[in-house]
Formats: sequence, C-alpha cells, structure tokens
Amino acid sequence: MIAARPVLAATMLLGLAGCGVAGAQDDAAPLAGKARADLYQCEGCEGALEADAASLASHADMAPAGEPGEPLRIEGTVYAAGGKSPAEGVVIYAYQTNAAGLYAGGTPETEASRRHGRLRGWVKTGADGRYSFGTIKPAPYPDDTIPAHVHFTILEPGKRPYWIDDIVFDGEFGVTDAYRRSMTNKGGNGIVPATRDARGVWQVTRDIILERHPE
Ligand SMILES: [Fe+2]
Repeated sequence: MIAARPVLAATMLLGLAGCGVAGAQDDAAPLAGKARADLYQCEGCEGALEADAASLASHADMAPAGEPGEPLRIEGTVYAAGGKSPAEGVVIYAYQTNAAGLYAGGTPETEASRRHGRLRGWVKTGADGRYSFGTIKPAPYPDDTIPAHVHFTILEPGKRPYWIDDIVFDGEFGVTDAYRRSMTNKGGNGIVPATRDARGVWQVTRDIILERHPE
C-alpha cells in the first residue's frame, strides 16, 4: 500500500496536468450581452494556435487507430454570439484523457503537446457552422475527482483563444447537482447526454455559442 502511493501521486499529477484554471466566472455577463471578464483566463489555450487554420477541415480524428477505449463521435454546430447564425471559420482545439483517465503519450514539441497527451485535434467550421471529432470516450482522472471530460478551446478569426465549458456526459460519474451549478454555460451548455448507436459508437452533440469579446 505504501509502495503504491508515489505511483498514485504521479498518476494524479499526470491526470491533472491537462487542466488549467478556469478562474472566477461572471455568470451574468452572457445574459446582459456583455463579455465575461475572465474570458481569456485560460491555461493551455495556446494549443489552439498550433494548427494551420487554413488547412483544417470540419472533421478530425483525435484518437489514432488502435487507441484503447470505446469509440465516440462528437459533433455540433457553432453559432455566433446570440446563438442564431452559424459561425464559419471557427477553430476548435479539443483534447482529453485516455481510457485510463490520463493525458498520456504527449510529445515534447510544445507545452500543449506535452501536457495534453496524444488525444487532441483541431477542426474548423464551414459555412454551416458544423464540426465533428472522432475519438474514444475519456475516463475520469484516476483520483475520481471530477467527471470524464473533453476540453474545448475556441479560436475565432483574428481573436484570442478561450476555453468553453468542458463536454461532460450527463447522468454519468461526477455530474452532480453541485457540478451542474458550477457551470456557467461558457460557449453554451457542455453537459450533454451520450448515446450509443447501432454500431456501438457513443454519440454526443455539443453545440457552441460563441462568447462576446472584451476588446
Ligand atoms: Fe482536464
């Protein structure tokens, strides 16, 4: 038991390494049509800048072939602030834990590539605002502190990147009333149900409403 402690501690560090600090939230801002004061408080959002936006498509596979885990498809529509018009040319940078709850398999090129592990990807919306990712279902961190989640960073043309609420799976571990209350719908609601299709692939829809910018 004692010998296992350093391993657990290291695992927890690895698991938590992919998360930044969301900072204080400004719940009233979206309702008032104002920008959130904490919009750019984001650790790791620079990962959104790694891809060449001009070459991105509206679909990307985050998980390499053979990645352990249950297949998952994430899709949705990105809307302009206000939530009515599809938003074109918006880059989404996504990353997540693997089936063991770890940000494993990162590479040393950048801080984000090292910390966020190998399950990450970039897409860019077309004129219809649509996007999709192919991946595997993430697991909660090994210390079971928060729900399994997928991080989304948004990069609009000519703007600074920002985090939106993580995707979490409604009804699953950790999506408690307290967790629900802690969300402020940054980028719209990230608490989404996961359903399995006839082929056994998990499906979630995470629509996004772009935030207002403070500048
Ligand atoms: Fe995380």
